[in-house]
Amino acid sequence: MTVVLEGRNLSRNYMAKRGLFAPPAEVKALAGVSFDLEAGKTLAVVGESGSGKSTLARLVTMIEEPTTGTLKINGIDLVGSTAEQRARLRSEVQIVFQNPYGSLNPRQTIGAALEEPLAVNTGMSGAERRKAARDMMAKVGLRPEYVDRYPHMFSGGQRQRIAIARALMLRPKILVLDEPVSALDVSIRAQVLNLLAELQQEFQLAYLFISHDLSVVRHIADDVMVIYLGHAVEVGSRDAIFENPQHPYTRALLSATPVADPGAKKERIVLQGELPSPFDPPKGCPFNPRCPSVLAGCLVENPPLEMKHGRKVACWAVL
Ligand SMILES: Nc1ncnc2c1ncn2[C@@H]1O[C@H](COP(=O)(O)OP(=O)(O)O)[C@@H](O)[C@H]1O
Ligand SMILES: [Mg+2]
Repeated sequence: MTVVLEGRNLSRNYMAKRGLFAPPAEVKALAGVSFDLEAGKTLAVVGESGSGKSTLARLVTMIEEPTTGTLKINGIDLVGSTAEQRARLRSEVQIVFQNPYGSLNPRQTIGAALEEPLAVNTGMSGAERRKAARDMMAKVGLRPEYVDRYPHMFSGGQRQRIAIARALMLRPKILVLDEPVSALDVSIRAQVLNLLAELQQEFQLAYLFISHDLSVVRHIADDVMVIYLGHAVEVGSRDAIFENPQHPYTRALLSATPVADPGAKKERIVLQGELPSPFDPPKGCPFNPRCPSVLAGCLVENPPLEMKHGRKVACWAVL
C-alpha cells in the first residue's frame, strides 16, 4: 500500500464580505481535515454544497495554499519543496470539474485542447502530440476523427469525456474529480462513472472523488470521508459507511438517497434547516442545530474524530 496523497489537519480560511455594509469576516471553509489516498484507490469526499469540498480540491491541486496543515504528494511535503519539485507534482495531480464547459476553451478544437498540456510540459513533436491526443480520445470513448471539432459540437457527457482525456494527457497518478457527473443527465452518469472505473484500472489512478450525493460514490469509492461545515465527521471504508453509517449526518445523507428496491423499508431522516452560515458556525459540534440525536455536551464541545465501530466518527452520541 502506497499513500500518494496525504493531508494532515488541512484548513483554509477566507476573508469574505458578508453583506453590503458589514466588514469582511473570516470564513473557515475547511477546518482541519486529514486523509490518506492510496495508489490506484478512490477516496470519496461527500457533503452538502458549502461544506468545503471544492476548497479541499483547490488545496490538493495546489491552486491554493492551506492556511494550516500539511500536504504530501508522493511522499514529498509541499511545504519546503523546491519550485522544480512543485512543478513536477503539479503534473501528477490533475483535476476534472463539474462543468466541462468552464474548463474547455470554446475556440479551441478538441485536438488542440488535448495537445496543449503536452506542448507546455513535454518535448514531444507535433506529430507525437497529435497521435497521443487521438489515442486518448479512443481511450475515453470518443471517435479520434473528431479531433478537429469544437466543444459545442459535443453533448454534455462527451464534453466531460474530453475534460477527463485532457486531465490524463500528462499521465498523472492522482485525479481530483470535483462533482464530475453532477451536471449530467442521470442516463449518462453511469456511463461516465463506468469510464472512470475503467480508466482507473488502466492507468492505476488514485481518485479523490468529490460529490454532494452519497449514492453517486457507492460503486466507485474504496473509502468515504463525509464532511460537514469543513469538518470530517465520518471516515471509513465504503462498506462501513454504506452498510452501517454511524454519524447522524451520514445517516441523513444516506436516507435521502434513492434505493434500488422500491419495496425496501427505509426510514427517511429529513434534515432540519439549512447548512449554518460558515461566518457563524455553531458552538460545539457543528452539526448540533440539525442533529436528531443532540446531547447537552454537543452544544459545548466539538467531538474528536475517533475510531468507533470500525471507522472514524466525530459524534458524542456514538458510543
Ligand atoms: N474564495 C473564497 N472566498 C470566500 N469564501 C469562499 C471562497 N471559496 C469558498 N468559500 C466559502 O467556503 C465555504 C466552502 O466552499 P466550497 O469549498 O466551495 O464548498 P463545496 O464545494 O462543498 O460546495 C463556503 O461557505 C464558501 O462560500
Ligand atoms: Mg464545490
